[in-house]
Amino acid sequence: MSVGDHLPSEFLPFFEHFATQALHAGQDPEQWKSMAVVPPISLSTTFKQSAPGQHAGFEYSRSGNPTRNCLEKAVAAIDGAKYSLAFASGLATTMTIVHLLKAGDNIICMNDVYGGTNRYFSRVASEMGLETSFIDCSSMKCLDAAIKSNTKLVWIETPTNPMMSVTDIKACAETVHKHGDIILVVDNTFMSAYFQRPLALGADICMYSATKYMNGHSDVVMGLASLNRDDLYERLKFLQNAIGAVPSPFDCYLCNRGLKTLALRMNQHFKNALVVAQFLEKDPRVEKVIFPGLPSHPQYDLMKQQCTGSSGMMAFLIKGGLENAKTFLKNLKLFALAESLGGYESLAEHPAIMTHASVLKEDRDALGISDTLIRLSIGLEDVVDIIEDLHQALKAAHPDVLIPAERNNKSLRN
Ligand SMILES: Cc1ncc(COP(=O)(O)O)c(C=O)c1O
Repeated sequence: MSVGDHLPSEFLPFFEHFATQALHAGQDPEQWKSMAVVPPISLSTTFKQSAPGQHAGFEYSRSGNPTRNCLEKAVAAIDGAKYSLAFASGLATTMTIVHLLKAGDNIICMNDVYGGTNRYFSRVASEMGLETSFIDCSSMKCLDAAIKSNTKLVWIETPTNPMMSVTDIKACAETVHKHGDIILVVDNTFMSAYFQRPLALGADICMYSATKYMNGHSDVVMGLASLNRDDLYERLKFLQNAIGAVPSPFDCYLCNRGLKTLALRMNQHFKNALVVAQFLEKDPRVEKVIFPGLPSHPQYDLMKQQCTGSSGMMAFLIKGGLENAKTFLKNLKLFALAESLGGYESLAEHPAIMTHASVLKEDRDALGISDTLIRLSIGLEDVVDIIEDLHQALKAAHPDVLIPAERNNKSLRN
């Protein structure tokens, strides 16, 4: 069981200079008096003015901070964007974007999104007079029909969490923009800027829970929004300050550091995930594997068209029922049973009980978020160790299933 040296060649080659931009854009040592090569953590909440209203670019840390500035410039560069703005969390980003709208406006949201996004639209934005229609945005017919005269925002996530279904961003942008000035937001958390660039495909805003791959070390909660439109940027920049859901300079420092290895990390996440998906796909204790980087994924062709690879995110259905799923999860040793994703470490979770508990049961059932669905975030450990762990936990969940000789622990190491 070894990891191939090359990622599948069918995926588009990635754009040049990504790693260089992630390392250097916005990081120029000349911007600091000390000429520091690594951007310092600027903890000061306020900045001295030479005369009232005359300052060197910073007044108060909520409205602008030098460390945040470095991060925002690096993110804009790797997203191929003019601008990027950082927020206190992914959901703080969502909230600030929603403040671009006013009471009476309609939002269209992909029906299979992160549970917290669904909860924000259905239980918070709704209280402010905003109505959200949850629909299948991967069908252009369905999307086109759902757009109303008061629709101002369309929110998609691709691939979706946790069902990994892929939406055609370009087709979505064409459908949405045909109806006038409607903002298309793509939640790019699962792919990161390395594997998918929604702005180049026509989206107006590309947002992230930077808590995941963009930071990549499971030690920062943060959100990001990248965009090209000057009018939207001016308003969002105003809202970033006026609402004030900004990240701390320390978190900005960490996330900026995380970006430096984004390209390396994402390649390895993909390599490991591909091996794991192939292993699970052949396993008699597994019903189905849902990984967009596998040819068996129903939208594999679309993935190859709009992404340069697939991340470490996948879902699978374990055979049996809830008890089998629980036994599997309880027996994992290397994987932590935990929410979140996109860090260097492998994580497993049960969407119906954990991340998507806030989605109504009937909606979960309609989407396929069943009791036997398990979501994995494949980390950067040696892949043989990841597979051994999955193998022994599957064995605990299904002790009676006979496993072919080549699948037992010893041969996994060969
Ligand atoms: C796809 C996606 N979008 C948004 C969020 C919300 O981000 P945060 O937890 O940083 O607020 C999450 C969190 O898990 C997520 O998975």
